[in-house]
Amino acid sequence: MLISIVLYLLLGYIVWSFLEKNVIGIRNKVKGPLSLPIIGNLHQFASPHFTFDQMANQYGSVFRVWMGDFYALIINDIDLYKGIYVKNNKLFINRPLSPGFQRISGDFKNIIHSPNPVWGENKDLVKHNFTNKALVGPTKPIFEKHMKILVDKMDEAYDQSKLFDTKYYIERCHMNMVLDFFTSSHVGYEHDSDEWVAKFNDSLIGVVEDARYGDILSSVGFLSPLYKRKLAGKRPSNQNIIDYLDVELKKHKETYNPELKRDIMDALITSFDESKHDRINYIIHDFFLAGVESQVCCCEWFFIYLSTRPEIQNKAYEELKSVFGDSKVVDYSMKNKTPYVNSIIKELLRIKTPLPLSIPRIAEEDVTINGIFIPAHTLIIPNMYHIHRNEKYWSKPTEFDPERFMVENETSLPYIPYGLGERGCIGLNIANSCLYHVIATVLLNYSFSSKTLLSLEEQSDLVIHPKNRSINVILKKR
Ligand code: HEM
Repeated sequence: MLISIVLYLLLGYIVWSFLEKNVIGIRNKVKGPLSLPIIGNLHQFASPHFTFDQMANQYGSVFRVWMGDFYALIINDIDLYKGIYVKNNKLFINRPLSPGFQRISGDFKNIIHSPNPVWGENKDLVKHNFTNKALVGPTKPIFEKHMKILVDKMDEAYDQSKLFDTKYYIERCHMNMVLDFFTSSHVGYEHDSDEWVAKFNDSLIGVVEDARYGDILSSVGFLSPLYKRKLAGKRPSNQNIIDYLDVELKKHKETYNPELKRDIMDALITSFDESKHDRINYIIHDFFLAGVESQVCCCEWFFIYLSTRPEIQNKAYEELKSVFGDSKVVDYSMKNKTPYVNSIIKELLRIKTPLPLSIPRIAEEDVTINGIFIPAHTLIIPNMYHIHRNEKYWSKPTEFDPERFMVENETSLPYIPYGLGERGCIGLNIANSCLYHVIATVLLNYSFSSKTLLSLEEQSDLVIHPKNRSINVILKKR
């Protein structure tokens, strides 16, 4: 008898869950793929950016999916995206409070995941360090140092007729620019730093895993105890980086001089009240997490796409040479004089958008935007990958063509790799500057090719790296 009651209740729950996700209620006015009872569309989240790109072709500007118990809207249209992220920014300023994010952010002490008011306080105290004007002075010697090492390493490979291991050196170069700028520290370029780099990468991979398990298991109410059990007593996956930053913070405080701002860590020690110093490491961890991975990803695609396009490399080289003459050192203040190189970077960020589905936000209250009703607590997932590849906006969108940005009305293109609005990427200027230095320095000093055709296949993750990340190229001196 008891078993029958339980089975009836379970059946009732399954039927109700199916109807709620597909048939009844105002949410189902927005079309979307069939959702399974209980899990919704979680089974389609294995390669979400591919799946959502295809679904967008079928459903148009917006469609709904269910992540377990959570209703989510996938935004495929630039006008709707701007309606939400720019015109109604205040209603979508927060991100979902997922347990995965909670673990890696020291209980929401950082910028990426924290809700207001912590987010607002942190951002206000940090953002003045990231304007182009504030960046020029402190970053110049850092770029000079690491670009010199990068060229030395390319020279070494060239002189010894060896292939240039882009993964190894480009990854270290981005890590070091970021580490130096934020904490005045860096890892070596030799193999004795491999262990540190591996730990760092493991932490980053772990963060993605934590977020994924956290989101998936905890999105189905009755599975969330499993998540808590799985993680009970385990260190957060990013603890290695946090421990490293703890040591750096201690050293910084011991040698702190309010008259001298050595790096961003010093700037945060100055700006944050002593009682909030426990936020500093989580904020700097954000910058590693958000910065290094997406910049490395962009450069990986740079070597892949350009290794078979000598004509693009040559055109960029001629442009750089016309600006920098015989100097082999890039000067960032001349960036506006190299529109073609700038277009290469934009085209890379368009065609292989590093964060293809951005970082989700959540609706604070019910609102109707461009005719779409968005109930409070809806998850908003911008389909940037699709917007960047939609034929409605771009001709031959799957072709790599920097010329598409060499037009007068370039700013009207739906180009949004860094997001938009008040909660868009805070690191946009530093990212643009790092990418410009690395890409222009390589193009000014060397041309490159590959023995084999490098695959365009993507790893499906929060950041879209190439599936094969060992990219070794043959260098030819300019
Ligand atoms: C190619 C490089 C980069 C790309 C494509 C990128 C992209 C993005 C995107 C799409 C977002 C989400 C914006 C939104 O919710 O609308 C974001 C947020 C963020 N990015 Fe970046 N980013 C890059 C580099 C960096 C760098 C170098 C830093 C470090 C200084 C950084 C720090 C952040 C932070 C802290 C956030 C969270 C902002 C907030 O929640 O207020 N990013 N980024």
